[in-house]
Amino acid sequence: MTKLGVNIDHIATIRQARRALEPDPVAAAVVAELAGADGITVHLRQDRRHIQDGDVRRLREAVTTRLNLEMAATDEMVRITRDLHPDQATLVPEKVDEITTEGGLDVARNPAPVGRAIADLGDAGIQVSLFIDPEARQIDAASDLGVSMIELNTRAYSEAAPKSPDLAGQPLDDELTRIIRACERARGKGLKILAGHGLTYRNVRLISDIPEIEELNIGHNIIARASLVGLERAVREMLEAMGRGIRR
Ligand code: PXP
Repeated sequence: MTKLGVNIDHIATIRQARRALEPDPVAAAVVAELAGADGITVHLRQDRRHIQDGDVRRLREAVTTRLNLEMAATDEMVRITRDLHPDQATLVPEKVDEITTEGGLDVARNPAPVGRAIADLGDAGIQVSLFIDPEARQIDAASDLGVSMIELNTRAYSEAAPKSPDLAGQPLDDELTRIIRACERARGKGLKILAGHGLTYRNVRLISDIPEIEELNIGHNIIARASLVGLERAVREMLEAMGRGIRR
């Protein structure tokens, strides 16, 4: 059974839009865990656009499953992560002006900074995963760096996947084939395989059916759906708070 790590960054995005106290990512983590999430993921970005250091500290206390912290492989972030001590750290590339993580780490071309971060986090007893594109050279380089875990970037698959609600019977696109090949290669090297980025209720099944993939990290589409499926109740509760009672 494929595990689900729920990325709650965008709960913090809504809060930071007003620099308010709500919604609290810690409350979101508790709800996600009660609903069956196998882990909670947050990305502490260098520009602190959504999740804040204090959020991670409080999540460290509250999360009862596994806390996975996505982070850039910089000295500063490594120092902060060693202090916060999540169960897992996922190293990701980070660009200042990107809307979201754009691609995987290029460990094939520039392994040194990632190698240093892996060693420093490993010394602190933190498990390390590398977010990489589903390419043979990146998988080989990740394996050479000695990590036990990788997260394959599904962004290209997500963008290529047909938008129709039912993908059954549709020809497998090239991106899905790339991910399946990458899984076979990574499994051959003994790596634990996670995947994520851009996955939605419509396109997730073809990925969760790949037997080598043990866990998916999904954020935006879950939070987007939550904002809609929760809206009716939220409006009713506001009417109640206004003394207007419950309308049926
Ligand atoms: N995995 C990684 C490494 C990511 O950076 C992100 C986005 O923060 C995700 C998974 C989740 O992507 P999405 O929000 O599109 O589900």
